Parts: sequence; C-alpha cells; structure tokens
Amino acid sequence: MSRLLHVSASPRSAASESLAIAEVFLDAYRETHGDVVDHLDLWEAGLPAFGPAGAGAKMSVFAGEELSGEQAAAWQAAREVFERYDSYDRYLFSVPMWNSSVPYILKQFIDVVSQPGWVFRFDPEKGYSGLLQGKKAAVVYTSAVYGEGRPPAFGSDHQAPFFEGWLRWTGVTDISTVAFRPNLATADAETGRRAAHAEARELGKRF
Ligand SMILES: Cc1cc2nc3c(=O)[nH]c(=O)nc-3n(C[C@H](O)[C@H](O)[C@H](O)COP(=O)(O)O)c2cc1C
Repeated sequence: MSRLLHVSASPRSAASESLAIAEVFLDAYRETHGDVVDHLDLWEAGLPAFGPAGAGAKMSVFAGEELSGEQAAAWQAAREVFERYDSYDRYLFSVPMWNSSVPYILKQFIDVVSQPGWVFRFDPEKGYSGLLQGKKAAVVYTSAVYGEGRPPAFGSDHQAPFFEGWLRWTGVTDISTVAFRPNLATADAETGRRAAHAEARELGKRF
C-alpha cells in the first residue's frame, strides 16, 4: 500500500484555490486507492528554523566533523522533518505563486529537509545525485496574474521551474502538474477553475 502526503503552502484556508484543487485530487485519489493520505500544512507545522545553527551544522557535516550543542540540536530537528517526509512514497504539493516564486514557508521546508545524505549526495567529480528513489509527485500551481503566454508585465515564472527543479534534484522525477492561473484582467475565472478541477480529478484517479 502506498502512503501519500499532501504538503500545502497556502495559508488561505477556505479562500485558497490550490487547496480546493488539492481536495478534488484527494477525493478522487481516495475513491480509487485504499492508501494512507496525510496532510502537512506547512503553516501549521511549526517547522524548525534553519539559521546560524542549521547552516553551521550543514557545513560541519560536509567537513566530516562531529556535531554538538546547538548545531546537533538543529540537525536533529531538521532530521525529524525529513524522516516524516521520507516515510511517504507519493506526494501532492499545493503551491501558490508568491512574488513570482513559492511562499517562503515552502522554501523553509526545502531548506530544512535538503541535506547531504538525506535528499542528495555530492561527488566532487560527478556532482549531485538525488537520493529519493521510487517516489512520485503531483503538484498544483496557482497564480492570479502570471500565466503562460501573457506579456512580461504580468510577471514571470520562478515557481514551477524552481519547485520542479528541486523535486528532480532530490530524485523525484515522476511529476504531474495541474495549474490554475486565472487572468484577473478577464472576468471569467470559472471556466479555468472548472478545467483545473476536472484535471485534478482525473489525475487523482490515475495517480
Ligand atoms: C503574498 C502574495 C504574493 C502573490 N504574488 C503573486 C505573483 O507574483 N504573481 C501572481 O500571478 N499572483 C500572485 N499572487 C496571487 C496568488 O498566486 C493567487 O491568489 C493564488 O490563487 C494563491 O493561491 P491560493 O489561492 O491557493 O492561496 C500573490 C498572492 C499573495 C498572497
């Protein structure tokens, strides 16, 4: 049996488009799979900081040094977040666009779990290799101004390339996406919303 974790990055609860699309995906997923489905709401998760102690620990680990004190505590706190994440083999991410990129809480999650020996290995000759094998991800993207094909003044996409680049870097290369990017300049968001929900339902069934 697979285990699916929904990692959500919108703090907008009932007003959230990405959470609504994710729910449609999950309803369809639950109907067709008997799998475990859990939710990691990044805004409620109490993620540990990854600041001076965390960054210090990371560099110490790279240098092959033993950790102690604040660095050891920061490393352990990050490890717990990673272990929970790694215990799933399927992921659904719901990812709003914030200032062309992802909400900072998702970047914090990425900075906490992306450690050597956990999600990647580094070889001075071969470079990086991802350590998360046999997993797959579905990603829901939302934005309200940026959209593919719109003029540059509507913004640019540092959301999907950044996020999928991170997934691939960790070894998660089986990625499916649904995007809902209504153009606020046009009144009718409903047609695109319906299409995104239909896409999410189909993806949930066959994921
Ligand atoms: C802090 C913040 C920054 C945003 N930045 C952008 C942006 O750069 N480009 C864009 O197209 N939409 C932007 N938006 C609009 C959101 O992407 C849009 O409302 C989307 O539906 C948010 O996802 P959610 O409904 O799941 O919260 C921003 C919204 C917020 C709250």
